[in-house]
Amino acid sequence: NERARIQKDLLKWYHVEKRTTMPWRKDNDITWDREELGQRAYEVWVSEIMLQQTQVATVIGFYGRWMEAFPTIRDLANADIEKVNTLWAGLGYYSRAKRLWEGAQKVLKELEGLLPNNAKDLEKEIPGVGRYTAGAVASIVFGEQTPVVDGNVIRVISRWRAIHADPKKAKTIDLFWSIAASMVPESKPGDFNQAMMELGARVCTPQNPDCSNCPISTDCRAYNQLNTVKRFSKDGF
Ligand code: ADE
Repeated sequence: NERARIQKDLLKWYHVEKRTTMPWRKDNDITWDREELGQRAYEVWVSEIMLQQTQVATVIGFYGRWMEAFPTIRDLANADIEKVNTLWAGLGYYSRAKRLWEGAQKVLKELEGLLPNNAKDLEKEIPGVGRYTAGAVASIVFGEQTPVVDGNVIRVISRWRAIHADPKKAKTIDLFWSIAASMVPESKPGDFNQAMMELGARVCTPQNPDCSNCPISTDCRAYNQLNTVKRFSKDGF
């Protein structure tokens, strides 16, 4: 069926095409204990907050300097806010840095130094962690079968399903979250979510999408409708 085919095609594409230059991307190791997963959650949390409104190429340098200064969530919690802001300088939206810092303090004081291991608790317990960041950390680090929706994912889904709805309306956004939720596989949910985001960033781009290199074009309603139009015009209709 279509769902299984898209999962398989996207994961296969991601396995070959994923950008390995992102220092926060590491394959999970089944031997990791809760502490090591907590450390991974910290790394992915920082990277996902930095990636909101900032390009990957820019984030890489900031992420490296941040991790040198605050290698663990404990280091971040114990740091001065001035130091935190210095390391954030250039990324903009300083409230994001302050929320990371406050979140780290809460994790240390109330959660025994460990970020929650599921989307629901991440969103509930950690200041500044919304639906997007909670889904990213839970699926990428903890393997929870939970979706992630950002601007890229919205574009991929709207084209795949030929959904003509205002992506700024809350009701539409809820629709995308429920479609994304219905697509995330039980196995490798984090890779699937990152594949959706990366497909939107690199293939299913806002302008001139590269449909000839898209792993799911045969299932794409927008692509197939466009072809139909092209074929008709070639035939002189
Ligand atoms: N954009 C934001 N976070 C991402 C991730 N983890 N993978 C790919 N693109 C992203």
